[in-house]
Amino acid sequence: MTDAIRILMCAPDHYDVDYVINPWMEGNIHKSSRDRAAEQWHKLYNVIKEHTAVDLVEPAKGWPDMVFTANAGLVLGKTVVLSRFLHPERQGEEPYFKAWFEENGFTVHELPSDLPFEGAGDALFDREGRWLWAGYGFRTELDSHPLIAQWLDTEVLSLRLVDSRFYHLDTCFCPLRGGYLLYYPPAFDAYSNHLIERRVPAEKRIAIAEPDAVNFACNAVNLEDIVIMNNVSEGLKQRLADCGFTAIETPLSEFLKAGGAAKCLTLRTTEPILENVHAAVSVETRTIQMQGHLLDAGTLNRALDLIVERGGSFKVLNFNLGTERQSTSMAEVRVSAPDRHVMENIMTDLIELGAVDRPSEEKDADLEAVFAAGVAPDDFYVTTIYPTEVRINGQWVRVEQQRMDGAIAVRKTENGITAHCKLLRDLTTDEEVVVSVHGIRTVRKVDERKKQNRTEEFSFMGAGVSSERRVELVVEQIAWELRHIRDQGGKVAVTAGPVVIHTGGSQHLARLVRDGYVQALLGGNAIAVHDIEQAMMGTSLGVDMKQGVPVHGGHRHHLKTINTVRRYGSIAKTVEAGVLNRGIMYECVKNNVPFCLAGSIRDDGPLPDTEMDLLKAQNAYAELIEGADMILMLSTMLHSIGVGNMTPAGVKMVCVDINPAVVTKLSDRGSVESVGVVTDVGLFLSLLVKQLDQLTTPYAAAV
Ligand code: ARG
Repeated sequence: MTDAIRILMCAPDHYDVDYVINPWMEGNIHKSSRDRAAEQWHKLYNVIKEHTAVDLVEPAKGWPDMVFTANAGLVLGKTVVLSRFLHPERQGEEPYFKAWFEENGFTVHELPSDLPFEGAGDALFDREGRWLWAGYGFRTELDSHPLIAQWLDTEVLSLRLVDSRFYHLDTCFCPLRGGYLLYYPPAFDAYSNHLIERRVPAEKRIAIAEPDAVNFACNAVNLEDIVIMNNVSEGLKQRLADCGFTAIETPLSEFLKAGGAAKCLTLRTTEPILENVHAAVSVETRTIQMQGHLLDAGTLNRALDLIVERGGSFKVLNFNLGTERQSTSMAEVRVSAPDRHVMENIMTDLIELGAVDRPSEEKDADLEAVFAAGVAPDDFYVTTIYPTEVRINGQWVRVEQQRMDGAIAVRKTENGITAHCKLLRDLTTDEEVVVSVHGIRTVRKVDERKKQNRTEEFSFMGAGVSSERRVELVVEQIAWELRHIRDQGGKVAVTAGPVVIHTGGSQHLARLVRDGYVQALLGGNAIAVHDIEQAMMGTSLGVDMKQGVPVHGGHRHHLKTINTVRRYGSIAKTVEAGVLNRGIMYECVKNNVPFCLAGSIRDDGPLPDTEMDLLKAQNAYAELIEGADMILMLSTMLHSIGVGNMTPAGVKMVCVDINPAVVTKLSDRGSVESVGVVTDVGLFLSLLVKQLDQLTTPYAAAV
């Protein structure tokens, strides 16, 4: 028995399940027996009283959850931070608890009324007093943590709850004496688990399984070496015993119906202050602005969702709704994250959505020198497909050669400052690289919405993947676009796989090249081999393309083909010799359409034209797609992904594949310009050529 510890409880005179504010209460309205609840509460009261002193706060009528005194506030020394309940159903308890604390000589701190914090239910001191674990995600707002750290002069470690059954920290987390921790890891996000593991050594972590967790085993009261809890498994009791704790079980089934057990029914009002512990909190906040068709385009929703998904929280400070259909909206949002790492994660995604710092908080980008050629500093900012600007010496500098998955290399010369998107391997030691997430913004076209309206007939192109029924319609639109680009002297790059040949698309793609619709061709060894095989022998990988049947000895055809081209030295020379006189590659040579064949490990041959140095091939691809208005991706996943990574936003991408997964992967760039078509590529090409033939009027005249 110790009197050094005092516990506050509240008799269940008015206890009931009257409403639903957590999943346990669902289906339990008025289902708990008042007599049994009273009996269970008294039993708990007596058990605790056997070990320490208990104070009582008068229950108030009409506030059935007031029994859960853990939610009264958070005490340290003679200071208390009063709870601000999230749900109105419990807000009426606040004045009663406040009065009790004041009567008992506590200094009371109150949070702003719109900043929820649910007391010791969501904030638990390490039992050695070294720091405070504070939960957020359901009831408590992350932004309350810095205030708590300040008022109680303690270090706060923020933990994010992710399972609604464990909506308060004390339902799944219980620090024990001696630095032990009883907890249910799946109730927390990965990053919080990582934080827990960093602070609590493995031999001190008592992780429990779901059956004990749903019995509220973590909702335990730890007094010296005893742990008072609702019924638990023998296994857990034994594990506690192994760590030197005696579990005392006392049934609390009636309170489980409201989502609480032993710990919830108590508040420890004696928490000693440690001399050497001081305020520290890693919570970071930043205020961002977003502008554009935030509602129509769903940008704001996406931004707010991702903040929460990544472990942060937000507050919308200002929102100016564009009143006209064409006018844009502006939102100012305060973003909070438990620490710098999480904040950087969130900001990286927000930048991609077009978020910028509030002008008064704008900072220069952080730069770090490249210490070894081809290696970026650890914290480098990874680029996206969107036009990007970086702030250097107070000036916004446009990043050139935008592509995704690069680093931003900065050079300062007497002629000025330049910024380039570069692949890691191309970084040199005389450059600096943008690190972290300050002073970076992506420029979104505000007229995106307007543009969509102008070309209403094309708007479904932004709708993602097309079903079979819509294929014909989509092909018609693509035909119009192709004609338009050609008539404007624009550029179309095609990346194609061998399936184009196997499905009979060769003649159609050859037509597109011949008629000036293709300005660059990208593919592997295989498409060229099979195209030439078909041109010279009538088979594609040994299958007769007219009869659709394998021919005898046909599997050797493609090797013979390769050999022939090797003899002449290149595809162009084979054409020159008159040996190759039709097909896609023939048309490329004849019409001066540049191509790059990128090699791979499984290539036969290869053809002399195939570039087996992949770095060279990647560079050649990048050069060939530069300035493209549209990229047609025809049944080749790897080449298409490669091309997609090099292509900045704003370039129309049409991805055709029989496999919906490939189409979804490629057309899901979050930009309106991508369209996916799930269909047989041979069929697609034949439809496309047919549509182009029907377009007798020039595009411009028809609009
Ligand atoms: N019905 C109460 C609520 O949802 C239960 C509170 C349990 N208290 C706790 N510290 N976990 O708020």
